[in-house]
Amino acid sequence: MDDLKAKYLGQIANAADEAALEAIRVAAVGKKGEISLKMRELGKMTPEERQVAGPALNALKDEVNAAIAAKKAGLADAALDERLRTEWLDVTLPSRGRPAGTIHPISQVTQEVSAIFADLGFSVAEGPQVEDDWHNFDALNIPSHHPARGEMDTFYMHREAGDNRPPHVLRTHTSPVQIRSMLEHGAPIRVICPGRVYRADYDQTHTPMFHQVEGLAIDKDISMANLKWVLEEFVKSFFEVDGVELRFRASHFPFTEPSAEVDIRCSWENGQLKVGEGDDWLEILGSGMVHPKVLEAGGIDPAEWQGFAFGMGIDRIAMLKYGIPDLRAFFDSDLRWLRHYGFAALDQPDLAAGLSR
Ligand code: PHE
Repeated sequence: MDDLKAKYLGQIANAADEAALEAIRVAAVGKKGEISLKMRELGKMTPEERQVAGPALNALKDEVNAAIAAKKAGLADAALDERLRTEWLDVTLPSRGRPAGTIHPISQVTQEVSAIFADLGFSVAEGPQVEDDWHNFDALNIPSHHPARGEMDTFYMHREAGDNRPPHVLRTHTSPVQIRSMLEHGAPIRVICPGRVYRADYDQTHTPMFHQVEGLAIDKDISMANLKWVLEEFVKSFFEVDGVELRFRASHFPFTEPSAEVDIRCSWENGQLKVGEGDDWLEILGSGMVHPKVLEAGGIDPAEWQGFAFGMGIDRIAMLKYGIPDLRAFFDSDLRWLRHYGFAALDQPDLAAGLSR
């Protein structure tokens, strides 16, 4: 009996955790435990033997159970102490200066553009990036034989052989959102539509995915003069300067008539881009008066309504404003680049407080 007692109390004292303790309990006083089996042998003893062994075994069992309970409480206390020690936090320490993540320049510039156009009375509209070719082309006066389709370097969605439904494409521009907005809201309308667009092209100034913002304003008496004023106001606000020089160049788009491409005066010195001075021009957008056929596709009567539209490269104007020389870096996900060019999360663009604090 003394050997049993010494054995189990010793094991209990040395148990490292609750699992070890439970194993000892099962081995000693569990259903088939050593002490329990001994108690079962009491029946085979003589009454005299039983009178001595019975109480002694009961006392041993109680002692082992009590030791286990005490050890269990001790282990729980130790575990709690360990947690308190490792999870301790000094809440009086100053906070970190800047959170680890930053806002990507494209997101920041999209917000800046939205804030400026919101101030000019434009709301924001969105459309799908996987678009059907009616919205991306036909409704914009680009029928299937039109050369502009070939020039767009279009990504076509996969179709199983024998599937003769009209193709879906990754939208090649944000112009299909013009059609969707007209069909949804009718005229008059004033919207911008920022988003991703896709073309199979890759070099220092082209990536297969890039960003545009579409503008559309339709009313009874809107003219090219309104387009010019809106774009000048936008460019001044965006670059946060009193004067930026724009150049309107006659151009051609199937969905506008007349059409103009707009360039911004800039200079390139040692790979650094500067806006508003110099002898270079950087094309930032295409624009024009919405073609009557496009109004019709949008369910709007061209005899009654007219308006302007433009499509601007968000990545382009982000490069210009923040002096980013290579377009491809936007999409490399290089942490050092993101920390350098990214914006603090709380510095949201706001016309009253300043766009790019
Ligand atoms: N969708 C044209 C492009 O991607 C831009 C544009 C939009 C031109 C609206 C005129 C009017 O190049």
